[in-house]
Amino acid sequence: MSVQLIVGAQWGDEGKGQIVDRLSENAEVVVRYQGGANAGHTVYVNGEKFILHLLPSGILHREVLCVIGNGLVFDPAAFFEELGFLKENNISVDGRLKISDRVHIIFPYHKKLDQARESKAGGNKIGTTGRGIGPAYVDKFNRNGIRLAEMLDDYSLKQRLEQNLDLANRILVDDYHEPPLSFVSVFEESKKFADRLKPFAADTAIILNDAWKSEKNILLEGAQGALLDIDFGTYPFVTSSNPTCGGAVTGTGLPASAIEDVLGVMKAYCTRVGGGPFPSEEENETGERLREAGQEYGATTGRPRRCGWFDVVSARYSARINGLNAIALTKLDVLDSFEKIKICTSYTTADGELTEFPANLRVLQDCKPNYIEVDGWQTEISTCRSFGDLPEKAQKYVGMLEELSGVPVRYISVGVEREQTIQK
Ligand code: IMP
Repeated sequence: MSVQLIVGAQWGDEGKGQIVDRLSENAEVVVRYQGGANAGHTVYVNGEKFILHLLPSGILHREVLCVIGNGLVFDPAAFFEELGFLKENNISVDGRLKISDRVHIIFPYHKKLDQARESKAGGNKIGTTGRGIGPAYVDKFNRNGIRLAEMLDDYSLKQRLEQNLDLANRILVDDYHEPPLSFVSVFEESKKFADRLKPFAADTAIILNDAWKSEKNILLEGAQGALLDIDFGTYPFVTSSNPTCGGAVTGTGLPASAIEDVLGVMKAYCTRVGGGPFPSEEENETGERLREAGQEYGATTGRPRRCGWFDVVSARYSARINGLNAIALTKLDVLDSFEKIKICTSYTTADGELTEFPANLRVLQDCKPNYIEVDGWQTEISTCRSFGDLPEKAQKYVGMLEELSGVPVRYISVGVEREQTIQK
C-alpha cells in the first residue's frame, strides 16, 4: 500500500495516534494534513505515554520521515515545546522532519482572539481548545494570513504582522475589552522562531509527490474527526478545517488519485468533547461508566469527554463522505464490564424516523436515539491477540457494527500498547 489515509470517523479522539503508530512500523513517510495543535494523539510505547499535538505520530518511529503539510495552521511555540519533549525522551528529529513553507502560522493574537471569543460567547460557546485554530483559518481564507514562507522573509513578516496585529488589537480592545498585544514583542518572538524554523521549511508537495512516485509507503494522518469537519460536521460546532478525505488532498499537495486506501478510526462507542449535538450521548450513569472505563479525558485540554453508545447513523455518514475501505475499531476492551451494550441505529424526530445524518442543527439537536441492544461479553479481552481469541459475544458485536455500518473492520484495539491492536 503506498498512500494510505487514516481519518477520524467520529468526533475526534478515536485513538488515531495508536493506529498511526502501529501502521508506522511499515511506513516511510507520515504526514499531518489539517488542524493544528488542537489535536491530542496519545501513543503508549513500552508503558510510557506520549501525547503529540502537532507532530505526526510517526515521529516515534526513528526511521520515518515526518511532514507537516500546507493544510495545517502551525503554532511555532507548540512545535518547539513538542520538540523539547521529544529531545528529553532521546527521540531525534534531525533530517527527518519537514514543514511546508505554505503552512499558515498561528500567532499569539490568534490564540487570544480564540479564547476571548469563547469567554464572551455565553450560550454560543463552541468549546474550542483555545489554540487559535479558528482565527488562524479565518485569516487564511480572508487572504491575510501569514505563511511560513512569509515568516522566513523579514520584510513580508514585518509588513503583514503590522497590518494583522493592528486589526487583531482593535478587535481585542474594542469588542472583547482585552489588553492589546505589543507589535515589538510579537515581531521579535516571531523572528526568533523563524530562524529556528528555517532548516525545517520545504516545498513538501515536491517531497511527497517524489515519495509517492517512488512507491514509498506514505501514511496521511488525520486529526479531529469527520463529525467535526467544517463542511460535513455538526456545524457550527466543528473545527475550522477538513479532517475528512478531501483535506488530505488540499492539505498535502498529493493528488486524489494517489490515495489507495482510506481507514476510518472509530471507537467501539462514541465520545465528544466541547459543545454541539450528540444524539447517542448518555448523560447518566452509563456515560460515567464509559468515561471512567475509557479514561475519557481530553488529551489536549484535560476536559471530561461526553460519552455514549456507538452510532450507526453517523458511522454510515462518515463512511460515505470519506469513502472508507475499512474501520479500525478502538477501545473495544472498554465495554468489557457491560451486561448490555446498545447500538444506535436511527433517530426519532418530531417529523418521524431518520436514518440519515441531518444537516439542520435544530433537527439534530432534537434527535432521540433508537437502539438495539446486545449482550455484553463480561470478560477481560486485553490479552486477546487475534480475532479468534475474542469471546464470541465480542466477535458478534464487531460483526454487527460491520454489517450495520457497511464497512469491514480491519483492526481492533483491546488496550493501549502497540501489541494490543489486532488485525482482523
Ligand atoms: P478548535 O478546533 O479548537 O477550534 O475546536 C472546535 C471544536 O473541535 C471543539 O468542540 C473542540 O473540542 C473540538 N476539537 C478540536 N480538536 C479536537 C480533537 O483533537 N479531538 C476532539 N475534539 C477536538
